[in-house]
Amino acid sequence: MEIISPLVSAIDAVTHPNPYPFYAELVAHQPLYFDETLRLWVASSAEAVTQIMNHPACRVRPMGEPVPRGLVGSMAGVIFEHLARMNDGPKHTSLKHDVTARIAQLDVITVGQKWASDLGRGVGHLNLNLNEFAFALPVYIMADLLGVPSQQIPETVGWVREFARCLNPLSTPEQVAIGKTAAEKLMGMLQPAYGEIWAANLIGLMFQAYEATAGLIGNTLAALGNDPDLYNQVMCSPGLLPQLIQEMVRFDPAVQNTRRYLSEDVTVAGQAMQAGDAILVVLAAANRDPELNPEPNQFQLFRRDRRTFTFGQGVHSCPGEMLAYNMAQAGIEQMLWLGVGQNIHVKAIGYQPYVNLRIPILLWENNGRDF
Ligand code: HEM
Repeated sequence: MEIISPLVSAIDAVTHPNPYPFYAELVAHQPLYFDETLRLWVASSAEAVTQIMNHPACRVRPMGEPVPRGLVGSMAGVIFEHLARMNDGPKHTSLKHDVTARIAQLDVITVGQKWASDLGRGVGHLNLNLNEFAFALPVYIMADLLGVPSQQIPETVGWVREFARCLNPLSTPEQVAIGKTAAEKLMGMLQPAYGEIWAANLIGLMFQAYEATAGLIGNTLAALGNDPDLYNQVMCSPGLLPQLIQEMVRFDPAVQNTRRYLSEDVTVAGQAMQAGDAILVVLAAANRDPELNPEPNQFQLFRRDRRTFTFGQGVHSCPGEMLAYNMAQAGIEQMLWLGVGQNIHVKAIGYQPYVNLRIPILLWENNGRDF
């Protein structure tokens, strides 16, 4: 019998083999409560999440700390400070408008298929593993789409990944130092042409496309590996792939939670909270709130009126949702074509270390050989 370690918090849930019974308990009995150990409010029901994500006093950064302390004074801090994602108010409105307009111009399908096929060949020749493929693909696609010259793309992808790592609170001091150097290289490449603020947001598009899309690809491949009936259904009707990915986004999302910080004393979702309080908004739990989606624990390819919080809510909602779907589809199609799910068996053997993202560590096995 599989032994699953007990869950103690909504942060442990992110990388737990099955956090969903725990989330269901929260939604049913503690939709918004204060976790004394985490020192965070935890919101999980669709109602609480909706109210928090749409409340003007719930900000994306703590009031006195626009940039995490460890990044202040570095180029990584400069990028962080200018990101649409990390600002509220008029600066956010204007950046969000520009970022959304830029994304709308990107032809992701052609470029996505090209990179899925190029990098997929690496997987076929076994010099790139499946985890690497899921991580690399979205950044190759985004760097190409945003006009990075082709000879600079591999180096740029490496810098984006190092920079993203330095934003993960679980990274080591050495990884943070490497990420800060990568931030300098990225800004050195883009700032002369685009200026500081826009260069920061172009870098933002590359790194925001990176981990969450890798998680979407990985979780979908793991689900196919776990469920031969689902795999057969999709292989018999490849047109079902978009539905598969959309239900995956709801059912086992790459982004499990986000945070909000109160700018003033307010009552939100019936709970009085104080300026300075922080809220962990558990998007993945709200996706399975029965008030939002009936029979939420069933994986339904043909779910009617599917609703999800995975791409956020309100003014900060993700402008890259369609890009993410298309990039993930390009990658998954390529892997299915290479035999993943058929002669190559895939399973998740754990999750990468994050406090908010659920990205599987995939093991794949071909004729009894692991690699
Ligand atoms: C599976 C893939 C993705 C997921 C699950 C995802 C999820 C999210 C979520 C939850 C937010 C809101 C965070 C919050 O309000 O606290 C967000 C914001 C954002 N995402 Fe994504 N994202 C994905 C892919 C992408 C891609 C491909 C891009 C760009 C090409 C992108 C660009 C952004 C940007 C710029 C924001 C900030 C928007 C704002 O603050 O107004 N994301 N994303």
